[in-house]
Amino acid sequence: VISRNSQMVQGVPLMEHIAHNWSSIWAFRPDPSDILISTYPKAGTTWTQEIVDLLLNNGDAEVCKKAPIIARIPFLEIFSPPPIPSGLDLLKRMAPPRVIKTHLPLQLVPEGFWENKCKVIYVARNAKDNLVSYFHFDQMNLTQPEPGPWDQYIHKFMRGELAWGSWYDHVKGYWKEREKRNILYLFYEDMKENPHREVMRIMKYLDLSLPGDVIGRVVELTSFKAMKDNPMTNYSFIPKPVFDHSISPFMRKGEVGDWTNHFTPEQSQLFDEDYARQMEGTDIPFRTSI
Ligand code: A3P
Repeated sequence: VISRNSQMVQGVPLMEHIAHNWSSIWAFRPDPSDILISTYPKAGTTWTQEIVDLLLNNGDAEVCKKAPIIARIPFLEIFSPPPIPSGLDLLKRMAPPRVIKTHLPLQLVPEGFWENKCKVIYVARNAKDNLVSYFHFDQMNLTQPEPGPWDQYIHKFMRGELAWGSWYDHVKGYWKEREKRNILYLFYEDMKENPHREVMRIMKYLDLSLPGDVIGRVVELTSFKAMKDNPMTNYSFIPKPVFDHSISPFMRKGEVGDWTNHFTPEQSQLFDEDYARQMEGTDIPFRTSI
């Protein structure tokens, strides 16, 4: 039986299997050449992973057919449960430069990433769409805490009680440090609006210079449709008892503004008022439509 409980680590609720192994995760030492992709869950992690992997492999279409995305880009803090391989085990077997995925808030990212000045790509998604996506994910992922009813889920999100903690603290934490720590801070909405432009930004940040046809191929191979149809990126490689794809596919909608199909006007107003309080004093240019 896989535990669906979370447990506090330095004030942040993390899944029990992560909390139990926290000391070895915190002790992880990356190589300076390693690249970290960090997000609050459901902000566009898999999409960005696929873009980065393809860019590093010169847009070679074989790369994204070769192995599941989580085997190519280990999930730092995931400690099983089977059939998900443990991130640290995978990393041990790979030679740097490695691309590593995390959902940890900035203060819980192992310090070696900052000491070694690793490249860090952060992707943020507007709160309402992020919340909607997480709600569906928590239903289909049978190892995540049970989401409960929609109305209560909104409040759990606002209170920062979901796994990996407060969305507000997460996006603000990386935003505040982005210049000092040379973090590339991306937005899901920008990627939807102009994937070509954002792929170019990632390419430049990685100090790569690739010809136009390669960029075009990367954009094509990482479209929502291509990734939904690709068994190596659509997470069909993780079946029950972990993911129940009949409840919701991992590649669900891939749109900006799906929140309008979920929030009632009252819920939206309540959320916006709380949002203004929690985001006061920040200037992160989130967009809830494009
Ligand atoms: P939805 O649930 O809104 O459809 P993550 O990879 O961080 O778990 O994020 C998953 C979300 O990103 C899902 O959102 C998924 O559909 C969306 N997504 C994944 N690949 C995408 C792509 N290539 N283009 C647009 N959205 C994508």
